[in-house]
Parts: sequence; structure tokens; C-alpha cells
Amino acid sequence: MTAQLIDGKAIAAEVRQQVARQVKARQADGKRTPGLAVILVGDDPASHVYVSNKHRACEQAGVLSFRHALPDDTTQQALEALIDELNADPRVDGILLQLPLPAHLDERPLLERILPHKDVDGFHPYNLGRLAQRLPLLRPCTPKGVMTLLQTSGLKVRGLDATVVGASNIVGRPMALELMLAGCTTTVCHRFTRDLESHVRRAELLVVAVGKPGIVKGEWVRDDAIVIDVGINREADGRLVGDVEFAPAAERASWITPVPGGVGPMTVASLLENTLYAAELHDAMAREASHA
Ligand code: GUN
Repeated sequence: MTAQLIDGKAIAAEVRQQVARQVKARQADGKRTPGLAVILVGDDPASHVYVSNKHRACEQAGVLSFRHALPDDTTQQALEALIDELNADPRVDGILLQLPLPAHLDERPLLERILPHKDVDGFHPYNLGRLAQRLPLLRPCTPKGVMTLLQTSGLKVRGLDATVVGASNIVGRPMALELMLAGCTTTVCHRFTRDLESHVRRAELLVVAVGKPGIVKGEWVRDDAIVIDVGINREADGRLVGDVEFAPAAERASWITPVPGGVGPMTVASLLENTLYAAELHDAMAREASHA
């Protein structure tokens, strides 16, 4: 292997410690402890693991977490009422609605019901619109985590030809906006892309977020490219693998993220950063209201 590994586990741990220090500093200044509410509907096993990880990370960082685990048959109206309650709760700085929701629920109006300044997932059109217009406020966690990996590794991306494979609302689209904001010439590939290989071969920076093992062949990777693999897939033998064929890609790339231990740990680290930032927004809004 010639590529250097980007150690997401170590970088995420550093971010989480930094948030913990800032939470302590807020408390020493007599400010509120930040609070995150997480809503989980149904019993999707992967979602349960993700949500437990989020609660553990909050605890370690000194952030309050409020867990709302609801049954599979929860109604749209009950969720709307819960979001309204959390929007109005002064202890709650961030609200996260874990996706996917059971099929009978409509996620879009629910995500839009979360007040934009409590939207720690950055999925509200207000926050995505701000990112699109180069005025980011709360930024989607996984793409933000990728930008942190690049910065922490000392990688300068301005002017690079970047290819994002995958155009989901959660990762691919906001990732493309982040890369444009950082000055990359950005191509987005999706299910209708005719020649994926040619777009991958051109990429000096490649980000893959599809959820299909091996969708990007290692031999397509350009020499010295930076490769960021967001995919986490479980093979029949239980191993976790990414979307990129790791060994041949690592022969060509200059830097590469492993799976596991690359992008995965960064999502929760970014969520804690967003929760702290939401608490600061919340304080600033309360100050403004008291001066009005
Ligand atoms: N499901 C998978 N990833 C995410 C995420 O980043 N946020 C939420 N809310 N749900 C998810």
C-alpha cells in the first residue's frame, strides 16, 4: 500500500474532546449545558445502534441527551406534536429525527417542522439553502466530518477536480455543496450517470457515498488521488467494507480512509459540534430577545 491512511477514529476522538472542553468552559462561565433530543421511531436495528452511539458520545462530551424512542405505529400527528414540544423546550438545543422512518410516515414535513436553529442534522431546506449560498450555519454531519478529515490531515482542496459518487440528501448533495464552497471543481455522479468510470478516473479528490460494496473499482482511482469512502457495508462473512475496492485503490491513492475507522466516527463528532453551535445560537437568540 502506498496511500497514507486518514485515521477518522483518532480525528473524531480529538473533535469530541474539544467539544467536551468547550462544554466545560461554557459551564464555568455560568452558561447552560447543551442538550440534544434524539427521536427514534420503530425498531430498525442499525438505527438503534447509531442512536445509542449518539447518546454515549453526548454523555462523554458532557452534553445532555433526551431520548424519545417511539413504537413502530407512531402517527404523523404524534411526531408533529413531539417536535413542537422539543422546539419549545428551552433545555433542548438540537433535535435529531433518526432516519429512515417507518414507511407510513412522511419524513419531509417532519424535518421541516424542526426549527432551523435546532436542526443539528442540517437537513432543513433553510440550512441546506444557506450552505448552497455559501452562508453555512448548521451543516449536515457526515459531509462536515469529511471536510474536518481533509483539513486535519493538512490537505488543501481548493482548485481540485472532485467527484462525488452518490447524490443522496444526507450525504452526496450536501457533500457537493461543501466541496464547491471549499473551491473544488465538483462533479456529482448518480444512478443516471452514463460512464461512472470516466468521472472517477478524472478525480483528484474522490468521495463515494452509495452503499454498494465495490461500486468503485480500485483500478479506476487516479494516481495520487485523495479517496474518501463513506460507504459502510456488511459482507456475508460479517466484515465491514466500503464502496471502494480498498487494496487496489490504496496502491494508487495518496490518502485514503479505511472502513471501518474512516468517515464513520466523524458523523457523531460533527453532531456534537453542531449541538454546541446550536447552543451558542440559542444563547444569542435569547440575548436578542431580552434586549428587544
Ligand atoms: N440515518 C443515517 N444517517 C443519518 C444521519 O446522519 N442523521 C439522521 N437523522 N439519520 C440518519
